Amino acid sequence: MQPKTPSESVAVLTDLVLPGETNPLNNLFGGELLARMDRAASIAARRHSRRIVVTASVNHVAFNRAIPLGSVVTIEAKVSRSFKSSMEIYIDVWIEDRESGIKNKANEAIYTFVAVDETGRPVEIPGIVPETELEKQRYDAALRRKQLSLVLAGKMNPHDATELKALFI
Ligand SMILES: CC(C)(COP(=O)(O)OP(=O)(O)OC[C@H]1O[C@@H](n2cnc3c(N)ncnc32)[C@H](O)[C@@H]1OP(=O)(O)O)[C@@H](O)C(=O)NCCC(=O)NCCS
Repeated sequence: MQPKTPSESVAVLTDLVLPGETNPLNNLFGGELLARMDRAASIAARRHSRRIVVTASVNHVAFNRAIPLGSVVTIEAKVSRSFKSSMEIYIDVWIEDRESGIKNKANEAIYTFVAVDETGRPVEIPGIVPETELEKQRYDAALRRKQLSLVLAGKMNPHDATELKALFI
């Protein structure tokens, strides 16, 4: 299978924060942002694999900045690394300043998706070749994050998480 680049998978969703999507402080409800990020990530995973994809895990979410009612929110999702059937998707969330149009980073998240066939069985996907410095950094760290996620899910023995363990030695 021909390897792809992260930029081939990019999915950008831009939307408003409307009443009914906020918490009592009038900021975007966390669960609403998770759903929007999941949607963007699934498009990126589908673009990379061209297969049916399912969310396998949410590895990391940082709600660093509240997103107020009325904000224009841009979610950019991109495959940072592909493995045999799974993909790590890195998601950056930006808020657009109404007057200047400048986008400020609000949050980020990392999801894992798995490509499956019509019966839900994992299938092989193309490899990935990172191009930019940021893509290379995210690619390099993705294996450690996959090992951590598998260890936490009880699907990997910590002793086998070689690259993850190397961080602490
Ligand atoms: C995700 C799913 C397909 C994995 O199936 P599985 O039987 O565990 O299959 P495998 O053990 O072969 O794992 C498949 C891949 O997923 C990866 N994976 C599974 N669980 C993972 C986790 N918690 N974190 C990171 N990667 C994970 C495996 O490492 C493997 O990756 P690789 O093929 O790239 O090496 C299956 O658990 C599933 O269908 N879950 C429900 C998905 C869903 O409905 N999501 C929507 C939320 S409601």
